[in-house]
Amino acid sequence: MKEEEISANGVLLKGINIRRVFKTGKENLEVLKGIDITIKKGMIHTIVGPSGAGKSTLLHILGGLDRPTEGKVFLDNSSLYDFPDRELARIRNKKIGFIFQFHYLLPEFTALENVRMPSIIDGTNARKGYEIAKELLVKVGLSDRFNHKPSELSGGEKQRVAVARAIVNNPSIIFADEPTGNLDSKNSDMLLSMLLELNRKEGITLVVVTHNVDIAGKFGNIITLDDGRILGGENVM
Ligand SMILES: Nc1ncnc2c1ncn2[C@@H]1O[C@H](COP(=O)(O)OP(=O)(O)OP(=O)(O)O)[C@@H](O)[C@H]1O
Ligand SMILES: [Mg+2]
Repeated sequence: MKEEEISANGVLLKGINIRRVFKTGKENLEVLKGIDITIKKGMIHTIVGPSGAGKSTLLHILGGLDRPTEGKVFLDNSSLYDFPDRELARIRNKKIGFIFQFHYLLPEFTALENVRMPSIIDGTNARKGYEIAKELLVKVGLSDRFNHKPSELSGGEKQRVAVARAIVNNPSIIFADEPTGNLDSKNSDMLLSMLLELNRKEGITLVVVTHNVDIAGKFGNIITLDDGRILGGENVM
């Protein structure tokens, strides 16, 4: 496929014939069985499907975190897995934000340091990164929690720190894997509003994995994954 075709029609990311086989002991487990998926710029996409369907595996592959056994992922015209690991890590850090079901904050660092981390890795103006991280923590309602470590934050607060960290480098796309899975309804609503606002105001593209049908219904563009294949959805190629 030519690069111009991939960037046409507002497409930000494209996965082509993605297969992922895990080797466990003597067995080969085919978790993704040839996925074609198109993610459009500025849109919100939800991925739903039963437990074990391969949702997290797909998200990791689309987000540059896990190399597919076969197939390609194009982000902004570039085939992600054709880059050497270091370059891939750089692209990921700059263009992609991740919000995991479990926050994966670094336990020994404060909220502010966790949010700053991607900008430190990126090597952009340290002072600017610091100011932006502070601004973002204020924005997610944690102005009085800068110096708390993850163990000193509630679940909802940790997830808000994770959101701030995901957006600190101004990514073009955010992948969120069950971002509200561990939150009560108040914190879930707050987090979802934050994600919606990022999409509406900043135009950040969102790909959200969720079990929650309400969320999927609200966000639209539903992609259903079952047993490693896409069953249906408005946004299938
Ligand atoms: N590193 C791995 N090695 C072996 N098998 C794995 C690995 N990661 C995932 N799997 C298997 O692949 C399948 C899909 O896993 P995945 O985490 O993508 O599912 P999921 O759709 O996200 O499920 P859930 O809704 O429960 O989070 C599961 O059966 C899982 O056991
Ligand atoms: Mg999962």
